[in-house]
Amino acid sequence: MSAVDQSKKLRVGVLISGRGSNLGALIDAAKSETFPARMVVVISNRADAPGLELARSVGIETHIIPHKDFPDRQKFDAELTARLRTHNVDLVCLAGFMRILSEEFVTYWAGRLINIHPSLLPAYKGLNVHQRMIDDRVEVAGCTVHYVTKDMDAGPIIGQRSVRVKPGDTADDLAARILREEHILYPECVKRVAQTKRGAQSPGAN
Ligand code: GRF
Repeated sequence: MSAVDQSKKLRVGVLISGRGSNLGALIDAAKSETFPARMVVVISNRADAPGLELARSVGIETHIIPHKDFPDRQKFDAELTARLRTHNVDLVCLAGFMRILSEEFVTYWAGRLINIHPSLLPAYKGLNVHQRMIDDRVEVAGCTVHYVTKDMDAGPIIGQRSVRVKPGDTADDLAARILREEHILYPECVKRVAQTKRGAQSPGAN
């Protein structure tokens, strides 16, 4: 696989609220010269999000934008957009970002905004999905990366990976097994998106 020219790499902004293990997976993938994207900024609405330190440790610029500092969702989201634009972001990745985004934000970033969700969408949208799957005795679970649209967890699917639910699994067991697949899936999907967007300009990228 040939290296991708730095200037041709997709500029990715990642929004987080917590742990940041998916951010970590993206950072690791981007260490490869052949990965067609690079993380240029990480923004958190929470100052104590552990993922911020992860980003700083590899020299990625971070911003903390506490949602509580804004009178409403629209103003908070407008600030997010302003910061992302400062970094000339081509693609926004939601990675455990625990805020519902306004229609204005979703419209502005349409086709450039993606999310990872710990279920095989369209099944199990929303929160508390691992416990809900255990309660329903689901046998096959998984994760999905999708474009974000105004309806929650309902945008076009970019990729999915499945896992088996084992007898006796707790919600935590299942979450851990799905998370391992998320860490493979998210970089794969960012690569897919980057190739779609940049394919014509960088035929060497693969
Ligand atoms: C992941 O399970 C992801 O699917 C969901 O939020 C969690 C974030 O985990 N959207 P992390 O912060 O990336 O570790």
